Amino acid sequence: MKKLIVGNWKMNPDSLANAKSLFSKVKRKAGTLKKARCVICPPYIFIESLGRLSSASCTLGAQDSFWEVRGAYTSQVSPQMLKKAGAQYVILGHSEKRELGDTNEDVAKKVKIAIDYRLVVILCVGEKERDEDGKYLKFLAEEIKESLHKLPKKYFRNIVIAYEPIWAISEHESTKGASTPEDFLEKSIFIRRVLSHLTEKEIAMGIPILYGGSADENNSWGFLKEGKADGLLVGGASLDPESFNQILEISDSI
Ligand code: PGA
Repeated sequence: MKKLIVGNWKMNPDSLANAKSLFSKVKRKAGTLKKARCVICPPYIFIESLGRLSSASCTLGAQDSFWEVRGAYTSQVSPQMLKKAGAQYVILGHSEKRELGDTNEDVAKKVKIAIDYRLVVILCVGEKERDEDGKYLKFLAEEIKESLHKLPKKYFRNIVIAYEPIWAISEHESTKGASTPEDFLEKSIFIRRVLSHLTEKEIAMGIPILYGGSADENNSWGFLKEGKADGLLVGGASLDPESFNQILEISDSI
């Protein structure tokens, strides 16, 4: 399986010109990759223009999508619109969206319809904090089960999980910096076990599990090699083409 490196640009950059310039630099590097590929998730407003510049190794994703495809839903964007604009992926359940009110139930509705419209869903999960007696593992298992509630088993073929402990996300008020490869490996085994109760074993085994949370050019080798991550979800470092291209290079060397 090729390593999947996802750039989550969040609410950046400030103009289409800057978005195009950043995308072009990444795309050039992505074109040289053999064992990795990248997905850039810019703000909605840039998707269509960047879609015209995309290539097989550098495709586009959105940072959210709604659970209906048409109607009176001011400000919402449907998965059908995104697909038509050129997106192939969509990030759902990001902690920053959950903080603004998205519940597991909302996320589950969004996941189902996004896959109906042939988007690959990058589902973000992760606990806010750790505790000594492992309550956070129960939280994590429930977040996964509820965010994928009632999802038909074959839909799991179009799911990617991004494990992002909230305490590891840069710019988060309580950030402690990146997690460790050993910890990620342990959590990814746990996550796969949870997934294997929700779909067929063979499908669960094939679901890519990415690491996210202050991933950068200095720690990505560890997460990919020692932590056996199937890829990375990169926020801050995806806005710096030098850092992000180094991450792409590292992922291609593993
Ligand atoms: P970060 O963001 O890499 O800046 O920590 C990751 C994310 O929130 O997706």
